Amino acid sequence: MASGVPAEVVEAFDINDVANDVYELNFGHRPCQGNIQTLTASDLDKYKAHAWLLSPPCQPYTRQGLQKHSADARAFSFIKILNLMQNMSYRPQMLFVENVVGFEVSDTHDQLLEVLSSLKFNIQEFILSPLQFGIPYSRPRYFCLAKREPMCFQNPPVKNKLLRTPLALSLTFNSTSLSNHDQDEEHLELVCKPIKEFLGFGAVVWYTGGQKSQQSQKRNMYQ
Ligand SMILES: C[S@@+](CC[C@H](N)C(=O)[O-])C[C@H]1O[C@@H](n2cnc3c(N)ncnc32)[C@H](O)[C@@H]1O
Repeated sequence: MASGVPAEVVEAFDINDVANDVYELNFGHRPCQGNIQTLTASDLDKYKAHAWLLSPPCQPYTRQGLQKHSADARAFSFIKILNLMQNMSYRPQMLFVENVVGFEVSDTHDQLLEVLSSLKFNIQEFILSPLQFGIPYSRPRYFCLAKREPMCFQNPPVKNKLLRTPLALSLTFNSTSLSNHDQDEEHLELVCKPIKEFLGFGAVVWYTGGQKSQQSQKRNMYQ
């Protein structure tokens, strides 16, 4: 994978055939086509996926929309997946969620945090834009990284606080670093270069017990 994370995608899902055409072209694997709301906990268990990547529909949260949040039918599939996770035997160890700015103030976000907390996940949340990584494109997005205990993040003090700059992770946590949006290149390199380390993907996570094939499985929903 481009991120350098050693992982194998065991399955991807999307209801849209055009989205699946694009995915297949890019990754050589055609996602499972259909409504993920029809999946059951035992369907998901079969994959024994180690990590889930979730990029659910953003229309319920976008500033350009009606902002109906969880009352918008397009939010239902994500909420269903959150509920299913609670009934699974082989829950993912890690979760990555991406969405538009606005998601972080929604009741769906509240539900996400409730479920993750009840399942003993440690989380870190960000609003990040490519601009922060030297790419001339302003596209701020919400990201949530979650790891199940006993896994934790390298910088425990910042857990459970939404960060608007990854720089805060590489500095000693204090209120000044959180509000500092000016990032010099040296610092950006510090936080961008070792993405694997930033996410905490070390030998511990991916290769424990010599079960590389099982441990490296990754599942990708909504692509
Ligand atoms: C925000 S987009 C993510 C697109 C993809 N991650 C990407 O980066 O290009 C949300 C995707 O969820 C899919 N989707 C929406 N509701 C779904 C459902 N109930 N079951 C499966 N896929 C669904 C849409 O077709 C859309 O492609």
